[in-house]
Amino acid sequence: MTIYRIGIIGAGAIGQLIFQQISTSKPRLSQRLLVQLISREPESVPQTLRFTDINQQQQHEVVDVLGVHSPEIAKLDVIIVCVKAYQVEALINELLPNLAPNCHIILLHNGMGPHIHLAQKLLAYPQMGLSLATTSQGALRSAKWHIAHTGIGQTIIGHYSGITLKQPLKNILLKAIPNASWHDQILSALWQKLVINCAINPLTAFYQCRNGQLANDEYKAEIKQIIAECINVAAADNVELEMLACHELVYKVIALTSNNLSSMYQDIYHQRQTEIDYISGYIVARGRHHQIAVKANNINLERIKSLEAQISH
Ligand code: PAF
Repeated sequence: MTIYRIGIIGAGAIGQLIFQQISTSKPRLSQRLLVQLISREPESVPQTLRFTDINQQQQHEVVDVLGVHSPEIAKLDVIIVCVKAYQVEALINELLPNLAPNCHIILLHNGMGPHIHLAQKLLAYPQMGLSLATTSQGALRSAKWHIAHTGIGQTIIGHYSGITLKQPLKNILLKAIPNASWHDQILSALWQKLVINCAINPLTAFYQCRNGQLANDEYKAEIKQIIAECINVAAADNVELEMLACHELVYKVIALTSNNLSSMYQDIYHQRQTEIDYISGYIVARGRHHQIAVKANNINLERIKSLEAQISH
């Protein structure tokens, strides 16, 4: 029997959702799965995780939530990093010395940016590998250890740098996470998700609405311009995206997650820092780099920065 140890770090809504999906999945008879939830807060005590599934059925599980410095972390085969984009770099710096030399890292967050720096850092760890993932599943955290699965969505994982993820682990993840698939062109998938996040997140946070409201005509022109700017910047970064396909995708996600409060809406509502620098901010930074006009994304960057500034005062 082969034991596979999977860690999920970041106990926010998506981290707890992915933990729940993997820890309740059934591996093959010849495999044993040990799935651990790791919190950035220094606690190593049993917690009752409550989960409301997409059909409103309640479940619960008592789990030992590990702290970042737990010795168990050195045994992990793979660690899925589900913290916010702006937390990735500091967290990885803290984790790296404790990880097994051949541990595989998977980043799963909204927005783009942290993978570039991390891939550079991992050059000093030749047995490690880095994969990137993106999900459009919806989850809402109503209490620290209570989440609800609010939107069915796709999860895409793909290799980015270093040693590739072992096939049995790939299979385990793809089986455990609903609608998950492996993409060789992961950057293209991440760019598509970035377009979705640029269109939905800042607008829902600024207009204080659920995702579904963005289907209304009054937002059409704004969404169209945001998408067009993202496509121009992506092209300059050698990623080809099509206007019609992106447009359809954005409206498909709006419909699929219509009842969702986007993560940025939730961040502003709970007076937390948002991921705007890695969403609209990434487009603005790359646009400036390539001297491409990114007016609509810049307006959103400034809107959310100004909401964040009100929170911090
Ligand atoms: O950040 C979010 O909320 C999600 O990525 C998405 C897909 C926009 C759904 O709310």
